[in-house]
Amino acid sequence: MATKKTTEKIPDYLKYPEIPFKVNITDKSDNERVTLEFVFANDSDDPVVISLPFFSAGNGEIVQTSKKWYIGLGKADELDETALGAAFMKAFSKAVFSLEEFQIKLPAALYKVIRADKTANLLFTALGVSAYPVDLLKKEGRIKKLKVKSVNLLSIKKTTEIFNTAKKRILPQVAHINGMRQVQSLPGNYMTAVMMQKRAEDIAAKYPITLKSFGQKELEKIGAGGILAVNRGSVEEPRMLVLDYNPKGAKKTLALVGKGVTFDTGGISIKPSSDMHEMKYDMSGAAAVVHSIAAIAEQKLPVRVICLAGMVENMPDGAAIKPGDVYTSLKGHTIEVQNTDAEGRLVLGDLLAYAEKEYKPDYMVNLATLTGAILVALASYYAGVFTEDNEIAALIEKAGADSTEPVWRMPLNRLFRDMLKSDIADYNNIGQRWGGSSSAAAFLSLFVENSKWAHLDIAGVGFIKEDHGVYPKVASGYGIRLLTELAAKIAAEK
Ligand code: BES
Ligand code: ZN
Ligand code: ZN
Repeated sequence: MATKKTTEKIPDYLKYPEIPFKVNITDKSDNERVTLEFVFANDSDDPVVISLPFFSAGNGEIVQTSKKWYIGLGKADELDETALGAAFMKAFSKAVFSLEEFQIKLPAALYKVIRADKTANLLFTALGVSAYPVDLLKKEGRIKKLKVKSVNLLSIKKTTEIFNTAKKRILPQVAHINGMRQVQSLPGNYMTAVMMQKRAEDIAAKYPITLKSFGQKELEKIGAGGILAVNRGSVEEPRMLVLDYNPKGAKKTLALVGKGVTFDTGGISIKPSSDMHEMKYDMSGAAAVVHSIAAIAEQKLPVRVICLAGMVENMPDGAAIKPGDVYTSLKGHTIEVQNTDAEGRLVLGDLLAYAEKEYKPDYMVNLATLTGAILVALASYYAGVFTEDNEIAALIEKAGADSTEPVWRMPLNRLFRDMLKSDIADYNNIGQRWGGSSSAAAFLSLFVENSKWAHLDIAGVGFIKEDHGVYPKVASGYGIRLLTELAAKIAAEK
């Protein structure tokens, strides 16, 4: 069961992303460097800005002179975290491809609007994400055109320490966000369950993390009926990957559980073909938890973290599960599968039950691109948080605010569990037409008994059609900052 490390050469598109530039925090301006100067609208005392005829410092507006780029932040009273992140992304995604070195200057008035630690979080995230384009399978991918080697971030007395702390924490974290974006972007024929195992092996080799890999036989042995039911129509082997970070001094255990459907055709309840290609992103939850445990270990946070990723492919085939079929889950419930496209919950149910049985975690959080309905409710702006436990809800909401990774609480209770009645089995895998995100969450709740648990539906935020804030379009890397912050908060508990 313990997996041997594979010795084959890792192809470029699978190499773990690294941050390709150095950052210095300094109070000394370097006149040799081009300055990226961020300015509020109508608020610059720089005579050059005043004299620029076509520059009104609207958010994300850029003018370039030979030694300075002016980047608008818009009006101070209209600036929020998303707008600040967007202005950073606009500037950096251009600068990293045009300048080998540059310096960044922020207006002192900025910290009255957005706290310096949040500014730093957004800045380092935007910088790192901008330097990792995901056109991985092009002959000449944009990564080859990267120029940036060195970035100076100008600080003032008030921000020097905050920036230095953020640099140590957030900059290495961006490599893991990019690692997540990389595996998200790879299509279903590349990023199979076995490929995800390779990524997990990489992480286990680099950090004090152990890996157990469960294949078809092992999954049969532990009775993972849900995982196996979903994968029946696929020619790829399924995997359950269990990563364990158990540092000295850890008092609490946090289980992070991820939906890893490497491609979701819907199965026999097949999806319409328009936009079906986007279902390669249906493994975003697994990608988030696998890379979060790396980010948490990198920060040496004193909390035990168990990461469970359920990797399957949902395909129609002669062997595939059919609508109306019944399977027995790892927890022992019999489930009537009235819709084979509601597959993520089958996988997660087994993972949640297994995590509880084997590790008895204090806290358990799962991430999943679970329902289209969450897009109807929250668009691409928030992950939906579902839990009946107010303590973990508060922790996640605080972690979301502090990490600038947005979440919104949604309802979960008996009303939605009552939607899951079956005439012949313990439960049905779908509810009625309305409230689809909550009935999906209710299904997951059937597999959790003892831990403080929350489900995050990331179908809206995991991959996005248009960029916003520090999220680039398509693979967004959502979740790493939130989960790392959550782990830090749990590690700090008495
Ligand atoms: N992976 C999809 C959810 C999804 C939809 C993610 C759109 C991202 C964008 C999930 O497996 C699914 O198909 N859910 C169904 C559930 C329904 C059959 C009860 C849905 O949301 O339509
Ligand atoms: Zn589906
Ligand atoms: Zn799915």
